[in-house]
Amino acid sequence: MLMADPIGEEEVVTEQSLRPRRLVDFVGQAKLKERLAISIEAASQLEKPLDHVLLSGPPGLGKTTLATILANELGTRLRVTSGPALERPGDLASMLTNLEHGDVFFVDEIHRLPRVIEEVLYPAMEDFELDIILGKGPSAQSIRLDLPRFTLVGATTRKGKVTAPLRDRFGIVDKLDYYDASDLEVIVRRSAGILDIEITDGGAEMIARRSRGTPRIANRLLARVRDYAIARAGGVVDDQTTVRALEIFEVDELGLDKVDLAIISAVVHKFGGGPVGLSTLAIAVGEEPETVEDAYEPFLLQIGMLQRTPRGRVATSSAYTHLGLEPPVSAQRVLPGT
Ligand SMILES: Nc1ncnc2c1ncn2[C@@H]1O[C@H](COP(=O)(O)OP(=O)(O)OP(=O)(O)O)[C@@H](O)[C@H]1O
Ligand SMILES: [Mg+2]
Repeated sequence: MLMADPIGEEEVVTEQSLRPRRLVDFVGQAKLKERLAISIEAASQLEKPLDHVLLSGPPGLGKTTLATILANELGTRLRVTSGPALERPGDLASMLTNLEHGDVFFVDEIHRLPRVIEEVLYPAMEDFELDIILGKGPSAQSIRLDLPRFTLVGATTRKGKVTAPLRDRFGIVDKLDYYDASDLEVIVRRSAGILDIEITDGGAEMIARRSRGTPRIANRLLARVRDYAIARAGGVVDDQTTVRALEIFEVDELGLDKVDLAIISAVVHKFGGGPVGLSTLAIAVGEEPETVEDAYEPFLLQIGMLQRTPRGRVATSSAYTHLGLEPPVSAQRVLPGT
């Protein structure tokens, strides 16, 4: 199944080979790229490590890619961990004490850091100091270690779940937006080049338009259409081949997959157009609420199929139209994309 997230293991290898290594190869996100380029340049002129960076945005838009690019551009090492992987303060302490001056310390899913870890992280980020408690009870001693000056890069699909004290300790806070079709077309062509896939302009354009604004999905669709082209259509990825392949893989002309369609169809058919609460909706489509909220809903909101209201999710008239239905008067009052 083609899901927005998470990705399968087999894809990880291809994903790494397709990952741009330098900022100039990172397609799109022009303003974000310029802001990062400025900070990188300034850090190098001032000969000091880059400020801590918090990157947010839906899955597959390039947060991890940017973290690796930052390390490459700064000419430093990248050390990687994630919020859920750090369970005890000792886990974090051993990573921090093994850092070198200027290293990029990448913490993926930073909104999922346990509270106790966050508290160790605050002085580490702010003063490059680590407080360690030795022993237990009345004889416990606290010692303070100096840490090298490092750059923390945090990534999250849920900026709202990053606590305020943590967020405030990042000097650079930025977000990635969905890509437009022309940027995705460039990404598809670049990936086709790397993977030795023969593709026409029409093929690249068609895949780009059906990629839900997401580079990871663009690369994934490219691979699936390539499979179809090789197995059934003479090897070349053109627009006709793409249309037929994506029909088989159940990706529609807006790039919506089975889960996207299940979501809007549930709101319309099971809940009378809404409003319906997130967890009820998630149960109806057999997904976790977090998956619906992080991976599916943002794009459906972006293209104006769904709306979030204080009482829950509501289908817009575009959702009805997309399902081939006449929108009820109530849905017409909901303006798409607002
Ligand atoms: N701007 C870009 N230009 C070219 N390729 C990109 C770009 N952004 C992402 N990609 C491609 O998309 C894939 C997914 O990107 P990445 O893993 O960085 O996403 P992410 O935001 O970290 O996702 P998640 O939230 O799921 O961790 C990468 O392997 C890369 O090949
Ligand atoms: Mg990532």
